[in-house]
Amino acid sequence: MTSLSSGKLCFLPYCLVIFMYVSSPNWVAFPSATSTSDTEAKALLKWKASLFPNKALNHLTWYPPTHNINATNSSNTNPKPRTSPCTWTGVSCNSAGSVSTINLSTCGIQGTLHEFSFLSFPNLEYLDLSFNKLFDAIPAQINYVSKLHYLDISINQLSGRIPPEISLLRNLTYLGLYKNTLLGEIPNEIGNLKSLVGLYLQKNQLHGSIPRSLGNLTSLTHLYLYDNKLSGLIPKEIGNLKSLVILDLSANNLSGLIPLNIGNLINLNILYLYSNQLFGLIPKEIGSLKSLMDLELSYNNLSGLIPPNIGNLIKLNTLYLHSNQLSDLIPKEIGNLKSLVDLELSYNNVNGLIPPNIGNLIKLNTLYLHSNQLSGLIPKEIGNLKSLVDLELSLNNLSGLIPPNIGNLIKLNTLYLHSNQLSGLIPKEIGNLKSLVDLELGENQLNDSIPASFANLSNLDILILRNNQLSGSIPQELENLKNLTKLYLDTNQLSGYLPPNI
Ligand SMILES: *[C@@H]1O[C@H](CO)[C@@H](O)[C@H](O)[C@H]1NC(C)=O
Ligand SMILES: *[C@@H]1O[C@H](CO)[C@@H](O)[C@H](O)[C@H]1NC(C)=O
Ligand SMILES: *[C@@H]1O[C@H](CO)[C@@H](O)[C@H](O)[C@H]1NC(C)=O
Ligand SMILES: *[C@@H]1O[C@H](CO)[C@@H](O)[C@H](O)[C@H]1NC(C)=O
Ligand SMILES: *[C@@H]1O[C@H](CO)[C@@H](O)[C@H](O)[C@H]1NC(C)=O
Ligand SMILES: *[C@@H]1O[C@H](CO)[C@@H](O)[C@H](O)[C@H]1NC(C)=O
Ligand SMILES: *[C@@H]1O[C@H](CO)[C@@H](O)[C@H](O)[C@H]1NC(C)=O
Ligand SMILES: *[C@@H]1O[C@H](CO)[C@@H](O)[C@H](O)[C@H]1NC(C)=O
Ligand SMILES: *[C@@H]1O[C@H](CO)[C@@H](O)[C@H](O)[C@H]1NC(C)=O
Ligand SMILES: *[C@@H]1O[C@H](CO)[C@@H](O)[C@H](O)[C@H]1NC(C)=O
Ligand SMILES: *[C@@H]1O[C@H](CO)[C@@H](O)[C@H](O)[C@H]1NC(C)=O
Repeated sequence: MTSLSSGKLCFLPYCLVIFMYVSSPNWVAFPSATSTSDTEAKALLKWKASLFPNKALNHLTWYPPTHNINATNSSNTNPKPRTSPCTWTGVSCNSAGSVSTINLSTCGIQGTLHEFSFLSFPNLEYLDLSFNKLFDAIPAQINYVSKLHYLDISINQLSGRIPPEISLLRNLTYLGLYKNTLLGEIPNEIGNLKSLVGLYLQKNQLHGSIPRSLGNLTSLTHLYLYDNKLSGLIPKEIGNLKSLVILDLSANNLSGLIPLNIGNLINLNILYLYSNQLFGLIPKEIGSLKSLMDLELSYNNLSGLIPPNIGNLIKLNTLYLHSNQLSDLIPKEIGNLKSLVDLELSYNNVNGLIPPNIGNLIKLNTLYLHSNQLSGLIPKEIGNLKSLVDLELSLNNLSGLIPPNIGNLIKLNTLYLHSNQLSGLIPKEIGNLKSLVDLELGENQLNDSIPASFANLSNLDILILRNNQLSGSIPQELENLKNLTKLYLDTNQLSGYLPPNI
């Protein structure tokens, strides 16, 4: 009874039922409140009184709750709380009857933490105020709740700096401050929180560099710093965080090299460094991260070779290296990554041939190699990629024929081969791709006529064949393409008329 965790019921319809029960005569039989719980109750009421009186507070049935009016009859003249706070909304207690948990997540409360008397909760281990409308600074006094294990005040409108005093909460395992408007630097002292397992500071306006001291947090499994304004180098000490499973530093302004000892983080499942200013080589040590499922280094200024031992990362589902300055050949080892669903190498300077063993990646949904300097033939093995939904090889220097077995890729929605040096016939097999919505083959040297089979592409919205050497008459069957909104056929040697209904 003492640890009824009714906080989870805040907005549920049976909320009321619980409180009716609590307010039944039985509650009077609770052990009389200790002086600690008395202090705690008063502290909670004081804070509640400071909150904006919105309707969320109706759900926060803390003493004196209106429906308890009869029960508290005798104390009407004495507002001293007689009930322990242990049964209040979102509050639960330890066996000694002292508050150990406050969970008011998603309760709609609005106000500040200034009147929250952290000193009054010596046994609080768990404080979840996430997803409310709390604003203004995080008080430095937060360090008084020294037994805190779990602190979540994410998704509020808190501002100001992260108080360095937070680092005195030595038993914290979870610190969630994400999606507020916190600014200033990440305090160095955060490196003292040696028990931290999860650190969530993303989606704020933190600037300055990532403190080296974070490398002391060797129990961390989740480190989220994305979507801030962090700059400077990624500290090499990050390589000490051997328990990390997710490391997300994306969408900041980090520069310099990717530290080589990132290769120590062998438990990583997810590594996001995208949308920064990182430059230099992708370290070959990345090939040690054998647990990686998702590697995203896009939107940086990385250059040089894609390290061939990236082919060791056989659990990868997603590999984004696009929008960098990568050059040289695509390593054939990429063909080992048989779990890949999404491979994006576009907007780089990779050259040479598309490795034929890309045809091993039979789980691929998305293959973007566009906007590079790839040359030679489109390998016929691409016809093995039967799960492909989106294939973009445009803006390269690919030549020769479009392989007819591209007609096997019957799930394709988007096929971009435009702006290459492709020549010869458009294979009639493209007419098999009944799911195609967007087909762009312009800016090539394709010749002969438009295949009549295109009439079967009934989902087609965009068809671009412009700037080729197509000849013959425009097939009247194209009038079947009822969903076509864009048709560009100019700069060819076509004759005849567009079908009347287009
Ligand atoms: C706090 O309450 C919310 C629901 O209101 C719940 O989703 C969350 O899991 C709770 N926190 C914990 C750790 O019990
Ligand atoms: C208080 O008690 C009176 C009489 O016992 C009852 O009519 C009334 O509804 C009660 N009020 C509340 C809020 O429970
Ligand atoms: C409330 O007070 C009235 C008179 O002050 C009394 O008659 C009644 O019994 C009290 N109710 C309870 C539940 O103590
Ligand atoms: C932290 O936790 C440990 C073990 O769980 C305990 O011995 C210690 O007293 C706690 N520290 C504080 C400040 O509560
Ligand atoms: C924590 O990290 C800092 C900076 O890397 C280092 O100087 C310090 O010795 C570390 N402290 C401990 C206790 O490991
Ligand atoms: C990002 O960092 C570069 C230097 O590395 C600096 O010139 C630039 O102003 C920074 N941009 C932002 C938005 O902070
Ligand atoms: C990116 O790298 C190229 C050379 O590799 C350099 O010329 C360019 O200035 C760099 N851009 C940025 C934004 O750092
Ligand atoms: C494209 O390939 C042709 C040969 O197919 C070659 O002559 C030309 O230099 C290449 N262009 C570029 C920009 O690489
Ligand atoms: C189309 O181009 C190919 C190769 O470029 C050539 O062999 C063939 O004769 C051309 N066909 C027509 C009809 O122009
Ligand atoms: C369209 O597809 C049907 C079978 O789905 C086939 O019989 C027909 O020949 C195709 N039409 C053209 C013009 O290729
Ligand atoms: C045309 O598009 C609409 C909606 O965009 C879709 O519901 C419909 O199935 C399409 N028609 C054909 C023939 O594909």
